[in-house]
Amino acid sequence: MKVIDLRSDTVTLPTPAMRQAMYEAEVGDDVLGEDPTINRLETLAAEMVGKEAALFVPSGTMGNLVSILTHCQRGDEIILGEKAHIFLFEVAASSAFAGVQAHIIPNRRDGTLDPETVLATIRGENIHLPPTSLVCLENTHNWCGGCVLSREQMDSVAVPVRERGIAVHLDGARVFNAAVALGIDVKELTRNADSVMFCLSKGLCAPVGSLVAGTADFIRRARKNRKMLGGGMRQGGILAAAGIVALTEMVGRLEEDHRNARLLGEGLSEVQGLAVDLDTVQTNMVFFNLVTDKMAVPELLVALDDEGVKVGHYGAGRFRAVTHHGIEEEDIQHVLKTFRRIMGGRT
Ligand SMILES: Cc1ncc(COP(=O)(O)O)c(C=O)c1O
Repeated sequence: MKVIDLRSDTVTLPTPAMRQAMYEAEVGDDVLGEDPTINRLETLAAEMVGKEAALFVPSGTMGNLVSILTHCQRGDEIILGEKAHIFLFEVAASSAFAGVQAHIIPNRRDGTLDPETVLATIRGENIHLPPTSLVCLENTHNWCGGCVLSREQMDSVAVPVRERGIAVHLDGARVFNAAVALGIDVKELTRNADSVMFCLSKGLCAPVGSLVAGTADFIRRARKNRKMLGGGMRQGGILAAAGIVALTEMVGRLEEDHRNARLLGEGLSEVQGLAVDLDTVQTNMVFFNLVTDKMAVPELLVALDDEGVKVGHYGAGRFRAVTHHGIEEEDIQHVLKTFRRIMGGRT
């Protein structure tokens, strides 16, 4: 039985082209700047997101932390949405290691921040107050259902913030999903961010790695911070080789994941006992809730597992299913059939 694992797009496996590229990768000591494959990946990544330079890091979490460390001093304040991945799911790394205080403000349902609220949250000059040094945006917005922020929404916050001399960091773990969903060049989403982090190891299928991009000076300082965190990867070109395939071959197909997510979301919305907010199904994620007391969460998870279907449960009957490479339309049909059967007669 094929296991249809929809818990995350991080479960994707490297493609045969990636494995071949990894096998053949030319490598060197990257801490000394001598890994030609990492150098190639960093140049390609910087070009793709329209920045001067980029840095290969082991994970999105380290990429966000390196960015915060590089933008901020200890005791600074950073502004971010209450549903930001950096705030919710990165083990408070920014406070533990960068020594910054998170000032969270509401995220709208679609993942956006209200520009007026952001500006009003920036601290003034006063002996009692921490300086605000960074605003973090997220696109696509994971905890808001994989919603896409348009370039106008991004700019409506980033432009006035930067006019105040405050830097903007984009947690763009899935920014290529956003660009593909909008049908625009990813540069249009990154143009007003001082730094951007994006992941290779989610929908783009690379086994490991993320990139941080920004000005040459920012990346020079970020490289030192990566070293401090233990993220210098020596002959990491073996991993970067897969990353190059991810960026050159895997971006276009994200559209397929978005189509499958839509199909899944629409299908699940018709299953009795489940509720789906279809407005937020814009990329490769479908969040849904169990809204019947005739079926308990563990019972549902076991019944799905018996049929080879895995979804993520995040407490209080809230589930997430993420489509990705290796999940075909027929798998979605199987998942829907399974839900209809399990939930039938339970409402
Ligand atoms: C929006 C967002 N940012 C950052 C990360 C962290 O990436 P990693 O798991 O590579 O540390 C994730 C992971 O899911 C994410 O969804």
